[in-house]
Amino acid sequence: CAVCYHRPPVCVCVFNTLFSFILLFCFPPADCKLNTDHAGVLLVERRGSYPLIDLQILKSRSLLGFLDWILSCSPAANSICRLSLSFQRYCHASRLLRGLVPRTPVSLHLLDDGYLGQAAHMLSKVATWNFDIFLFDRLTNGNSLVTLMCHLFNVYGLIHHFQLDMVKLHRFLGMVQEDYHSQNPYHNAVHAADVTQAMYCYLKEPKLAEQLSPLDVFLGLMAAAAHDVDHPGVNQPFLIKTRHHLASLYQNTSVLESHHWRSTVGMLRESGLLSHLPADMSQDIEQQLGSLILATDISRQNEFLLTFREHLDHRDLDLELPSHRHFILQIALKCADVCNPCRVWELSRQWSERVCEEFYRQGDLERKFDLEISPLCNQQADSVPAIQTGFISYIVEPLFEEWHRFTEPSLLSRTMMGQLHQNKARWSRLRYARTPSATQMDPQVEEPEPAGSSGEEDGGDIP
Ligand SMILES: *[C@@H]1O[C@H](CO)[C@@H](O)[C@H](O)[C@H]1NC(C)=O
Ligand SMILES: [Zn+2]
Repeated sequence: CAVCYHRPPVCVCVFNTLFSFILLFCFPPADCKLNTDHAGVLLVERRGSYPLIDLQILKSRSLLGFLDWILSCSPAANSICRLSLSFQRYCHASRLLRGLVPRTPVSLHLLDDGYLGQAAHMLSKVATWNFDIFLFDRLTNGNSLVTLMCHLFNVYGLIHHFQLDMVKLHRFLGMVQEDYHSQNPYHNAVHAADVTQAMYCYLKEPKLAEQLSPLDVFLGLMAAAAHDVDHPGVNQPFLIKTRHHLASLYQNTSVLESHHWRSTVGMLRESGLLSHLPADMSQDIEQQLGSLILATDISRQNEFLLTFREHLDHRDLDLELPSHRHFILQIALKCADVCNPCRVWELSRQWSERVCEEFYRQGDLERKFDLEISPLCNQQADSVPAIQTGFISYIVEPLFEEWHRFTEPSLLSRTMMGQLHQNKARWSRLRYARTPSATQMDPQVEEPEPAGSSGEEDGGDIP
């Protein structure tokens, strides 16, 4: 938007909206029906990732009833129809209407110095594996991703090395953070910050740290921060079956990951962060970011795991080769993305509950629209402990066993494997405890703190 310098879905000025109204009055559109399929799912072309626009809610506002009336009865061009739909998109996407005032780094100055002091203190221990990203996010007033990225860029001297403009960097990071949906229980900016912090720990692995170039570090951190940007909180099968425009745009393949990547490229170009670099270099950065973000598609896990295993079996990884370093960055990002079960129980449990809550919300949407309920999304049938034990056994354990091998094994890898096994055991005990017969015997059944665990986890010194 030329007025407020935001991209259209987050444009905070009213001019766009007024403009569409004026056009609507002068040239009301013709065959511009809002398509709904049998299930009543609205199918509208939209740029953002919002899965559904709830017409019931929108229609309850008289203003939109008026819009609907114009849309349904008068002749004019299709482009105007788009404009009015962009108004609906605006209603849905606007941070203001969602009750969220856009946060700028400026708001940091308004915070209590005490909070910022504590946040700064936390940053001094950002390389520890039991870093509490939830606390950090509260202390930074919801700016964990921007604050963490700026800190890590400083730690690595990336701003100086790539001659980055601080204003552009802030603008880019602010856009990325804002484009995460804070109403998603799981796929929000705190998850991105968490993955970035884990990525930082992996980049510091002794096996890797010495070999990485500043470009590798830059790509690793950028990919981690942006890898889920504008995630709609529903999965790819849902987007395909509701015929979401992103599914057709990306031909049903790595739909979400492609969107995260292309959104990132859009924000890179819009912020001008790389505009001072030679064209071939910024193109290379965009391509490599894509390759890293697309690697997080969990349906490609086996492909990566087999290649990784083969390299480890043949001991043929040569980290002096850029292509091998890129492969390891892909694996590191995949590990960072699913590392929740390797965290200390108290953090791990919160992530588990959040991801299941997001699944259940998709299940509720599917129920509401008479769609088949996706696996793991039925709150009545799929308990959190059942989902977690499956996720750990099939996805997390196989990946981290190889990562453990790659790091030869490092102190961090041993810590992660230890916590992974403890957490898995704990979830499977909870799973048994929740079976009807067990609950009948003891409805108050609560998992006791495993003996000695607090000692093991009291790890301010864990790398
Ligand atoms: C994507 O999936 C939908 C639903 O299964 C199908 O109708 C459509 O043809 C598919 N598109 C592509 C490009 O494969
Ligand atoms: Zn993710």
